[in-house]
Amino acid sequence: MEKHHGIFGGCWCILFHLGPGEGKRSAEEYRAMKEARVREGRAHAALVFDGPDAVGWCQFGPTAELPNIRSRKAYEEGRRELPDWRITCFFIDRDRRGEGIAHVALQEALGEIARLGGGTVEAYPEDVTGRKVSRSFLCSGTLGMFEQAGFERDRKIAMHRWVVARKIPGQRSGPPPPNPPPPRPRSAKSC
Ligand SMILES: CC(C)(COP(=O)(O)OP(=O)(O)OC[C@H]1O[C@@H](n2cnc3c(N)ncnc32)[C@H](O)[C@@H]1OP(=O)(O)O)[C@@H](O)C(=O)NCCC(=O)NCCS
Repeated sequence: MEKHHGIFGGCWCILFHLGPGEGKRSAEEYRAMKEARVREGRAHAALVFDGPDAVGWCQFGPTAELPNIRSRKAYEEGRRELPDWRITCFFIDRDRRGEGIAHVALQEALGEIARLGGGTVEAYPEDVTGRKVSRSFLCSGTLGMFEQAGFERDRKIAMHRWVVARKIPGQRSGPPPPNPPPPRPRSAKSC
């Protein structure tokens, strides 16, 4: 994270967590907020290591932990029921892109979701078919990545953004995480 200056102008991978009134803070504040979440067990991610170095990550979590998705208005309009889990963000070390690390991170996130009880999983990737897209805009992953991982298209929520879903069987008994109604962020910007 430090190598990439907190990522995306100092997001510190907090923006998808934010509820109403929690946005528009400094990079230092976002870093502290993220660290608090991690220490309190309110943040989940699969981290990919090459030896001692973290080279990639895939953020996931119970839906209530990640309320601030992109294209939220369109998502709400077509919503039937909330998923148990969301996969919201990837970040791969800029010197290690194009090596398949995002695919590995996604598989490991799905493995963690299974270990934590499984359930319905949604993601919101970009369809890059036939066009050039900057890697910076692909923080939610590509449609192809998720289809290769067994996800199915549900509906479009922006010109190139899809809701995709898959059910993951749990590896242990117990109910899926609770799904309280999500807050409606107004001021928080998604990366
Ligand atoms: C997008 C990103 C996650 C891809 O990670 P990666 O490890 O390089 O990806 P992989 O090598 O596993 O490839 C995954 C797929 O994405 C595709 N892909 C990657 N970059 C692409 C691009 N710019 N345009 C189109 N497709 C792209 C690959 O072709 C591959 O598809 P395939 O399996 O069908 O061939 C990475 O470039 C990244 O971290 N970008 C920055 C995201 C960011 O800014 N996140 C934080 C925002 S707050």
